[in-house]
Amino acid sequence: MRGLSDTQKRSFDQDGVLVLPDFFTPDECDSLRDRMADIVNAYEPSESDTVFSTTEQKHAQEEYFLTSGDKIRFFFEENSDPSLPTNVSLNKVGHAMHDLDPVFSNFVRKPKMAQLARDVGFKDPLLLQSMYIFKPPKIGGEVVWHTDHPFLWTDPPSVKGFWVALEDATIENGCLWCLPGLHTLQPKQRFRRKEAGGTEMQIFDNTEFPTEKKIPLEVEKGTLVVIDGLLPHWSSANLSDTSRHAFTLHIIEGSANYLDDNWLQRSPEMPLQGFEI
Ligand code: FE2
Repeated sequence: MRGLSDTQKRSFDQDGVLVLPDFFTPDECDSLRDRMADIVNAYEPSESDTVFSTTEQKHAQEEYFLTSGDKIRFFFEENSDPSLPTNVSLNKVGHAMHDLDPVFSNFVRKPKMAQLARDVGFKDPLLLQSMYIFKPPKIGGEVVWHTDHPFLWTDPPSVKGFWVALEDATIENGCLWCLPGLHTLQPKQRFRRKEAGGTEMQIFDNTEFPTEKKIPLEVEKGTLVVIDGLLPHWSSANLSDTSRHAFTLHIIEGSANYLDDNWLQRSPEMPLQGFEI
């Protein structure tokens, strides 16, 4: 198996982002899409509190989110109409398919993924979070400029995202945009659990990212994009007629300290695992 070239490793170090076309075959992408279609078909919407809500439901929704770190749960687009069928109104499903579902586990635990993790610097990679992102046509919402480390904080910073295009991603359907090289900036915020319950965003620096030099990552189905945990990225709303399905896996370093007031926590029965199980 061919790993990253030295040029690719250097490019990732310099830019904080690396685009790898044809990392997955169309068939591998379709296997994940088909499996998610089955998971969505089997889902009973009544078991969750959706975004269509009163203030009281907000609390239940937050609990549903905060306890999803070791489960497979369903999150809806804010602008979706409650009368729409589930499969066209989902924003994402997360956050532990990679440990709970055999098809997702096989997808993330392919030897080429473990090799890539080593090549971008992991010594003892732990698979923290998986998300299936739908970005549905017309209603798929914007994801504002952010970096991932503030949401999945380790000391020292270690999280990296493996973002996989399961369909072609274009400017029209809401592809990722990023600011290459700005992964060198200090984190501006941190999302964490409050002692009294609920969550808060701590702000260390309330300046905006300088987005003049943003570049679009228009990529074809099967492309994997490695995103450093401190690389600013953004995606626009999907106003097109096509969906933009993607899968993300977030990995942290085993020796780094994962903070116990991070929003995503595992129960003791389901500790984080690496590529080998
Ligand atoms: Fe992100």
